Amino acid sequence: MKKIEAIIRPFKLDDVRNALGDKIHGMSVMEMKGFGRQRGHSEVYRGAEYKIDFVPKIRLEIICKDEEAENLIAIICESARTGKIGDGKIFLSDVQDIIRIRTGERGEAVI
Ligand SMILES: Nc1ncnc2c1ncn2[C@@H]1O[C@H](COP(=O)(O)OP(=O)(O)OP(=O)(O)O)[C@@H](O)[C@H]1O
Ligand SMILES: [Mg+2]
Repeated sequence: MKKIEAIIRPFKLDDVRNALGDKIHGMSVMEMKGFGRQRGHSEVYRGAEYKIDFVPKIRLEIICKDEEAENLIAIICESARTGKIGDGKIFLSDVQDIIRIRTGERGEAVI
């Protein structure tokens, strides 16, 4: 199982969600702030260049089966991209186990 953490532009959330459609089984969405290589400078947010270090972003967290990950990453890249600096990043990692609290089930069946 894999965890896809995608940091995207807030206004791209609906596009990404729609593009993923029913290919995902669940998703967590968090509002956050951060900076990348430009340290927040020279990024445009809502028409104005951001003068502070932190730029508002959305963080998506999706847990999926190993074989689903690359397709989901491709969909996120395509739907979140503007081509300008600050489009975001995707972090991919392994997930050791999943537990459904209600039933105590574990593993891939819980996805
Ligand atoms: N090395 C990192 N560690 C943790 N979070 C990061 C890292 N790099 C980027 N992020 C997160 O991703 C968000 C978007 O980063 P950003 O798209 O600016 O990356 P970048 O590497 O600067 O690429 P670009 O040149 O396209 O802007 C940041 O606001 C931050 O939340
Ligand atoms: Mg950047």
